[in-house]
Amino acid sequence: TEFVSANDLSSLMDVSVNDVIKVCMQLGMFVSINQRLDAEAITVIADEFGYNVEFITSEDEQALEDTIADDEADLIERAPIVTIMGHVDHGKTSLLDYIRNANVTAGEAGGITQHIGAYSVKTEGGRMVTFLDTPGHEAFTAMRARGAKVTDVVIIVVAADDSVMPQTKEAINHAQAAGSPIIIALNKIDKPGANPDKVREELAQMNILVEEWGGKYQSQEVSAKTGQGIPDLLEKVLLEAELLELKANPDRQAVGTVIEASLDKGRGYVATVLVQTGSLKIGDVVLAGAHYGRVKAMTDHRGKKMKEAGPSTPVQLLGLDGAPQAGDKFLVMESEREAREIASNRSQVQREQSLRTRKHITLDEIGRRL
Ligand code: GTP
Ligand code: MG
Repeated sequence: TEFVSANDLSSLMDVSVNDVIKVCMQLGMFVSINQRLDAEAITVIADEFGYNVEFITSEDEQALEDTIADDEADLIERAPIVTIMGHVDHGKTSLLDYIRNANVTAGEAGGITQHIGAYSVKTEGGRMVTFLDTPGHEAFTAMRARGAKVTDVVIIVVAADDSVMPQTKEAINHAQAAGSPIIIALNKIDKPGANPDKVREELAQMNILVEEWGGKYQSQEVSAKTGQGIPDLLEKVLLEAELLELKANPDRQAVGTVIEASLDKGRGYVATVLVQTGSLKIGDVVLAGAHYGRVKAMTDHRGKKMKEAGPSTPVQLLGLDGAPQAGDKFLVMESEREAREIASNRSQVQREQSLRTRKHITLDEIGRRL
C-alpha cells in the first residue's frame, strides 16, 4: 500500500524537505526524510504551508478487498485471462489472430499493434479463454507492466528464427514480478531458419528451463502462419489455468481494469474494459480512474451488443465522460453523485500533477539555456 513520507510531502507541496522537517520540529515532531507520516501529521504540516489536504478514499481498493471477502459458496469458475508478450515482430498479434480466426495485422498501420486489445475465445473443447494482446513497441513498457497484473497466465512469444531479445527479457521479468505462470511459445517454427534449440539455450541461460530440458516451464513450438502447435499451446494454457482454480462471484457489482479508451467521433468515449469479478450491466454507474458515467451500451470485440458482462469478459462500453488510462481500475458504484465526486477529485489531482511536471520541464529548459 502507498504511503506519504516527509520527502513525498515536500515534493507534493513544492518546498524543500528541510523546510518540512524544520516545521515538524517546531510542531514537536521529529521525523526523518523517508519516514511515513500519518493522516493527522500530513494535515497539520500541510496546513503550516497553507495547503488544505483532502484524502481520497480508494474505492476500488476497497471493492477489491470485498472481492476477496466473497463467500466461497458464491464463487464460480471463471475463464483464465492470458496475456501474450514478447519482442517486437515475434508474432504476438499473428498468434492471437490465428487463435481467433480473424486478421487484425493486415489492417493495422505499419503492422505494429497500436494498443492493447482484449478478446474472448472459445476453444475446441468449448472452454473460454480471454486474451490480451500487448504492443511490442518500447514506449508501451508501462502498459505492459500493467498488463501483467490483470493476467493469470503469460505466454512469452519468441521467434525461433531470432533470439531472446531485450523485450523478451523484460516481458519475462514483468511476468515473474506479477507472479504469473509463464508458457513459452517458440513461434515461426515454419521458417527455414528456425532454431528453437538455440532459443531454449538462451532461455536456460536466464534460468528459464523448459520442461523438455527438465525444467518447470511449459513450452510449445508453434507457427502463427500454419497453425502448427497452436491447439497444443492452448491445451497447455488451460492446464496451467486449472492449477490456479480461478473463481469469481458473478452476482456482485463489477470490478475490473481499463484496457484502452479513446474518443470516437460518432459514439463519444469508448472504453474497453475487462470485468474481473461481478457482472457489468447496462445502466450501471461506473467509476473508472478519473472518469465516471452510466453504461449506455456494451459490445463484445466483434461489435455484438451485450446486456451483461460477467467475470473475465472483455467489453467495450459507452457512457463515460472521458477516457480513463489503460490500467486504471473501474468499479460499479451505487451512487452517481459519489462516483462523480471521486472522479472529479482524481482529475483535479491529475491536473495539478501535470501542471507541476510542466513547471519542472520549463525550469529544466531554462537551466539548459543558462
Ligand atoms: P508488434 O505488435 O509490432 O510487437 O509485433 P507482433 O509481435 O505482434 O508481431 P506480428 O504478429 O505483427 O508479426 C510480425 C511479422 O512476423 C508479420 O509479418 C507476420 O506475418 C510474421 N509472422 C508472425 N508469426 C509468424 C510465423 O509463425 N511464421 C512466419 N513465417 N511468419 C510469422
Ligand atoms: Mg502486435
